[in-house]
Amino acid sequence: MKKVTLIPGDGIGPEICNAVTQIIEAAGLKIDWDIQTAGADVVQTEGTPLPQRVIDSIRQNKVALKAPVTTPIGKGFRSVNVALRKELDLYANIRPCKNIKGIKTPFDNVDIVVVRENTEDLYAGIERQIDNDTAESIKIITRKASTRIVKYAFEYALKYGRKKIHAVTKANICKLSDGLFLECARTVAQEYPQIDFKEILVDNLCMQLVQNPSQFDILVLPNLYGDIVSDLTAGLIGGLGIAQGANIGSDYAVFEPVHGSAPDIKGQNKANPTALLICAVNMLKHIGENLIAQKIEQALYSVIEEGKILTADLGGSATTQEYTKEVIKHL
Ligand code: NAI
Repeated sequence: MKKVTLIPGDGIGPEICNAVTQIIEAAGLKIDWDIQTAGADVVQTEGTPLPQRVIDSIRQNKVALKAPVTTPIGKGFRSVNVALRKELDLYANIRPCKNIKGIKTPFDNVDIVVVRENTEDLYAGIERQIDNDTAESIKIITRKASTRIVKYAFEYALKYGRKKIHAVTKANICKLSDGLFLECARTVAQEYPQIDFKEILVDNLCMQLVQNPSQFDILVLPNLYGDIVSDLTAGLIGGLGIAQGANIGSDYAVFEPVHGSAPDIKGQNKANPTALLICAVNMLKHIGENLIAQKIEQALYSVIEEGKILTADLGGSATTQEYTKEVIKHL
């Protein structure tokens, strides 16, 4: 039996994890889930939101499925999500956004992959209070991390037959930091003449994305822009409830949706488990369970296309559990 680390997270995390594990089991696959809690509740009992046992579990199993973990806003402990990515050197955050049949959106030809650098930039968490009225955050951009994420984007393009990559920066203003990212992108692009390489400033990108998203194929971005832009692209295809993601490094892979812990709908049996389910499907493909992954994909997409049993974020009135049962019925 395959062993996979499962981080149920908090907020809606445990509800959507429960839905996803039920669907995988109903599809006929038994996984030995190594359940690892993390986050605010764990601080009370273990003194840290990210105990070493969580890292050790992923190191041992090499793969994890992760639901969202809340990060206190403006105070409190550092993000568990950011710490995990850094600790395991999960340098590439891949967030594909493609229209799903049955979900009506203003555009029907969106197929964009956001490739976000996942280990540095303002997420390095180097901040200080200079005085009562002044705070400082340091943005770190290195040649090593920039080159490797851009290479990842180009290799991804070759692997999946994609044609165009936009490097996204604000190098007109952040001349040194984003300037370095762009310089690395230009250098790497020369090794891949078969892929169309373009440059765009992040503000212009945002405007173009909401007017004409089909012109974009792969976007490669430093951490912060990647985080923000991937929520925008999620909105283009129907929202956070369906937006998948994966954190990939040389040794480990942690599959997790774009969305957060959605405290506004926590415990209400309302959350859409689709994003986490698509992450789970990708995780199953990653561990070689292609047939089960395809079976789940087919069931999921036919439920969405039929459009009868959908969660509230997609305009339906089904609960998380009703939706889960419907997917299981379609397996
Ligand atoms: P959020 O993504 O949790 O929620 C934004 C909006 O989308 C809310 O209205 C929420 O109800 C809705 N939404 C999100 N996921 C949904 C789903 N599966 N089904 C239906 N509706 C869904 O973003 P927010 O509110 O900014 O962040 C809440 C917490 O999550 C924060 O503590 C933040 O730090 C954390 N977070 C954690 C992430 C992670 O664990 N990887 C990623 C993003 C945020």
